Amino acid sequence: MHHPENDISLNQSGNESIRDVIDRVDPARRRFMQGTLGTAMLTAFGGSALVGAVKDALAAPAPMGGIGFASIPPSLAPVADLVTVPPGYSVSILSAWGDPVGSTAGSPQMNPSLPQNEADQLKQDGMHHDGMHFFPFPAAGASGIGNTRGLLCCNHEYTDEGILHSDLTPGATPQTIQRVRASQASHGVSVKELRKVGGKWTVQKPSAFGRRITANTPMRMSGPAAGSDLLKSKKFDIRPAGSVDTGMLNDGFTAFGTVNNCAHGYTPWGTYLTCEENWNGYFANPTGDVTGVEGVDRKIEILSGQSRYGITTTGFGYRWHVADPRWNADTNPREPHLFGWTVEIDPWNPNSVPVKRTSLGRFKHEGAWPAVGADNTVAFYQGDDERNEYVYKFVCEKKYNPRNRAANRDLLDTGTLYVAKYNSDGTGQWLPLVWGQNGLTAANGFADQAEVLVKTRQAADRVGATMMDRPEWIAVHPTTNEVYITLTNNTRRGTNPPSSNTPDGNFSGGSRRPPVDAANPRANNKYGHILRWRETGGNVGATTFEWDIFVECGDKADANPNFQGNINGDDFGAPDGLWFDKDGRLWIQTDQQGDAAGDWVNIGSNTMLCADPSTKEIRRFLTSPPNCEVTGVVTTPDGKTMFVNVQHPGEDWSGSFTNKSSWPDNGANGPTTLSGGPVIKPRSCTFVVTRDDGGVIGANGLTIR
Ligand code: FEO
Ligand code: CA
Ligand code: CA
Ligand code: CA
Repeated sequence: MHHPENDISLNQSGNESIRDVIDRVDPARRRFMQGTLGTAMLTAFGGSALVGAVKDALAAPAPMGGIGFASIPPSLAPVADLVTVPPGYSVSILSAWGDPVGSTAGSPQMNPSLPQNEADQLKQDGMHHDGMHFFPFPAAGASGIGNTRGLLCCNHEYTDEGILHSDLTPGATPQTIQRVRASQASHGVSVKELRKVGGKWTVQKPSAFGRRITANTPMRMSGPAAGSDLLKSKKFDIRPAGSVDTGMLNDGFTAFGTVNNCAHGYTPWGTYLTCEENWNGYFANPTGDVTGVEGVDRKIEILSGQSRYGITTTGFGYRWHVADPRWNADTNPREPHLFGWTVEIDPWNPNSVPVKRTSLGRFKHEGAWPAVGADNTVAFYQGDDERNEYVYKFVCEKKYNPRNRAANRDLLDTGTLYVAKYNSDGTGQWLPLVWGQNGLTAANGFADQAEVLVKTRQAADRVGATMMDRPEWIAVHPTTNEVYITLTNNTRRGTNPPSSNTPDGNFSGGSRRPPVDAANPRANNKYGHILRWRETGGNVGATTFEWDIFVECGDKADANPNFQGNINGDDFGAPDGLWFDKDGRLWIQTDQQGDAAGDWVNIGSNTMLCADPSTKEIRRFLTSPPNCEVTGVVTTPDGKTMFVNVQHPGEDWSGSFTNKSSWPDNGANGPTTLSGGPVIKPRSCTFVVTRDDGGVIGANGLTIR
């Protein structure tokens, strides 16, 4: 419930169907398609038929060093309560929820027999580790100190309130500000200094870099929407004992906290990006009305925005609004406009104020991943993870300056936000979300660029973007800048009665039932797929591209051919995490029902796989404990240490946390800070994967660098 599968749909625009596209496509292109693919594709629009139709000029090459490990078998039900890796590889636990981040304020260890408290939690890893990035120390050099020392920035996406508060029935317990503060402190981001000492990776304690950023951390709004009336929420004095209404409004440049930090990104200038995904669920609007808003039009605008972004009368069940009125979307109706952004954090300055960069748009951000062009143009690719939402690209107006870090400080404030349109012929367009263009006018409800950005989803509806099968992570190939995206699943695609997003932005994408199209070719797409594209001319700032489908996920033994997929290698589904290592190996992580039941009996528990983008061969590298998600992966610059996260092992909102997983404190992957203790709760954590021969993870041979 707290991390919904985004199966409710919140996007309701009437964008054109694949049939409209075919009719519109220019005759030369149609002939090209028919000649290349045959008429079967034009009738079936099978995505796999498009594979191979696109020019290979910019396609990713084979990984340097190849893929050198033997695939491991799936972890079938009953799922073993540990992480398994191929022979010759080892796992050790680095840091779990409640372990100290090593801040100079102290390093308390969580006591699993007690409810969590805010004061301790502010010095410890949050819950539910997700996207993360390793910043080598210092920032450059493949063979230097960065392979044994660096900063690990990690998202803590959401909480299991039952485990957090040691409640068996958390929904029934009266809400208190102490519980809310502990929950808020378990969200956000951790920054930890890591050192490899005596061959073992540890969190440095204390470290000047050790830091927590939470749902209450002071932040700055920046970019075109900053200062907008829509961002002037109620000003609260946020204290441990409660949020005190000052009777004043914030200035539109001020925000507090970040929540549901799902995946992430980073910048070429060495800052971390954390992305706000299902932030809507922390708000509730118990009345369905809004107070303190001047004018009927503004009121309607804000309420329809709450609907478009999924704010409901109850929220997801966190009940923060019960004890902390900042999160009440009726009495504080502009507060939700301070969420849904990409947040830039400078991990190298522990006193830096995180900045919400409004130029990158407001939606349910999965992540924001950079591509740097030959001329130092920088683009960031982003997905909006909800059924039938969109894929975005932000292109910085100013060029990245590799020689002057300070010159890049506000690069994310100016540029152009685009949304993707995937045509049926394998071409695509980036449609600009710029005020005054493509119907983004006052007459259509966009008074200025600030409103275009606060209402990014509605703007994308208006310009006619392509509704996608739940965009998750994006990975950019290290040498070609070819872009890959996981589309995790969409059980409403192609189901009846058909409906699509409409230009007036009045519907939620998740409620729509769009027909299949070329980029999302399967009805009831329960296993998902991975799509990729190449910008025209290899230019990251291009406004056109060519795309194809890299793989359709599935189970080769499924009785329905539609769900068998076309995987060259090990079956998997629900692709989510996606990352290229420096050698060009594509790592894929999954987020499915983790008990290996139902649709997953042959696929097993969640997993991480490794793909060769040139041959499309895919091998299973890692299997996970029951009822978790594998998410977040990065290596040291030499590729010899890999950090991976397991999120929410044994997840069970009822709080009956002992019956599905006791990982990692069961010691199955080696000792933890709490293994052997009297009370064991399953804990999300970061673990380390190394090769016993000291080689590069995933590669053939040792691959000396
Ligand atoms: Fe938090 Fe889209 O996964
Ligand atoms: Ca995800
Ligand atoms: Ca998830
Ligand atoms: Ca997911």
